[in-house]
Amino acid sequence: MASSTIYEATCSAPVNIAVIKYWGKRDTSLILPTNDSLSVTLDQDHLRSVTTARADPSFSSPPERLWLNGVEEEIKSQGRMRTCIDEMRKLRKGLEDKDDKLPKLSTYGLRICSENNFPTAAGLASSASGFAALIYTLASLYELQPAVSTSHLSRIARQGSGSACRSLFGGFVAWQGGETTDGSDSLAVEVAPQEHWSELQALICVVSDAKKGTPSTAGMQRTVATSPLLQHRIREVVPARMKDISQAIKARDFNRFAEITMADSNNFHATCLDTSPPIFYMNDVSRAIVQLVEEVNRASEEAGKGKIVAYTYDAGPNAVLYAPKENVSLVLGLIRHYFPNADFDDTFNLLSSGANASHRGANQPASPLPTQEQGLPAGFNSAVIPVHEAGAVRRLIHTQVGDGPRLLARGGADDEVGLLNAEGEPK
Ligand code: DP6
Repeated sequence: MASSTIYEATCSAPVNIAVIKYWGKRDTSLILPTNDSLSVTLDQDHLRSVTTARADPSFSSPPERLWLNGVEEEIKSQGRMRTCIDEMRKLRKGLEDKDDKLPKLSTYGLRICSENNFPTAAGLASSASGFAALIYTLASLYELQPAVSTSHLSRIARQGSGSACRSLFGGFVAWQGGETTDGSDSLAVEVAPQEHWSELQALICVVSDAKKGTPSTAGMQRTVATSPLLQHRIREVVPARMKDISQAIKARDFNRFAEITMADSNNFHATCLDTSPPIFYMNDVSRAIVQLVEEVNRASEEAGKGKIVAYTYDAGPNAVLYAPKENVSLVLGLIRHYFPNADFDDTFNLLSSGANASHRGANQPASPLPTQEQGLPAGFNSAVIPVHEAGAVRRLIHTQVGDGPRLLARGGADDEVGLLNAEGEPK
C-alpha cells in the first residue's frame, strides 16, 4: 500500500545539438571531457524526454525501479544511473539535515518512468534529454531548487551522459570542461537564453543507415588513445572556437556561427578518421548534404549575401542543419528536391497545407528545384549532387531553439501527465 501523501514530479527536458563538439574524456568514471563544448537546445515541443519520479516509503525490494520507453531497466550497481540517483539523494539529505520538518524523502524508495517522444529509430541520441529529464525530475521531487543551482545539477547530469549537462539549460549552452580532478568545475552554463536568438531554426535530416555505428562512449576513448589530431583539437582548435562562437552568438552573426559550426563538425569527424582503427560516422548521403550546403552558401556569398545554412553531424550519419528562420523554406526545398520522399511533419506550416500536416514519403510528388524567386542564389550549380533515390533521407524534423527543462506536474489524484499509475508502475 502506498502512503497517503504522493511525492511525485513529472518533468520534460530537451535535446541539444552541439556546434562545438565534445569528444573525449580525461576521466571516464566522472565523465570529465578533454575539451569544452557548446550546443543549441532544441524546442521540447518537438523533441523531448518526459520523466516521472515518485518517492514512497512503501517502495522496497528493490527500493528503486526504472522503466525507459515502457521497458524495465536494471539499475546497475556501478552504473551511471546509480551515480545520478545517489548524488541527487545526497543533495536531498543535505536539505533534510538542515530542516527537521522536511519529509525524509532521501530514505524512500523510488519509481522512475521515462519516455521519449521521438522514436529511437529516428537515429537521434536520447541520452542527453533522458538524463537531463531524470535529474530535473528528481530535483523537482526533492525540491532542491533554488538551494541547488542549475549548474550544480548539470554536474550530476554530466555523470549520466556528458552531453546531458547541456540539456539543463535552454538557448545556447557551454559545457566548461574544467580542470579539477574531482569534476567540481566541469559544468554547464548559459551563453545566451532562447529569446536572444529565437529566429535560429533547425532542420534535422534523418539519414537511412542500416548499420549500427560505433557508440560514442567507446568511440571517443579510442580517439583519445590513438589520434594525434585530437591533441591539436584540444589545445588549439577548440579554445579559439569557443571564444569565437560565443561572440557570434552574442552578436547573432549567422555567417560566423555557420562558419565555425561547420568547421568544428568537420574537425571532429577528422579526428574520428584519425583514430586507429578509423571511425566513420558520416556516409555518402551525409557527405552529399555537406556538398549541397557548401554550394548554396558559395552561390549566396558570390551574390554578396551571407551564408544560408550550416551543417553539423554527431556520432552518426544524420545532418542537423541550422538556419535563420527566413532561410528554412529554401533549405527545405533543396533537401526535398535532392532527397525525395522524406517523411516531413510540417510543424511550422512551411508547405501551406496546415500546421503539423504530415507529409508521408510515399505520397509525395518529386519536389522541383526551388526558384530564384524562392531565394535560390543565381549562380547555384544545380548539378552539384545528383537527385538521390527515394528515402535516402528518411525523415525531416523542423524545430527551433528552445527552453530548458519544464516541470509538468507534481503528482496527485488529478495528475494526467504523470507516467506512473497508483501502484507506481507505468500507466
Ligand atoms: C558527438 O554525451 O553521448 O554527440 O558522455 O559517453 O555518454 P557519453 O557521450 P555522449 O557524447 C556525445 C558526443 C557528440 C558530441 C556532443 O554532443 O558534444
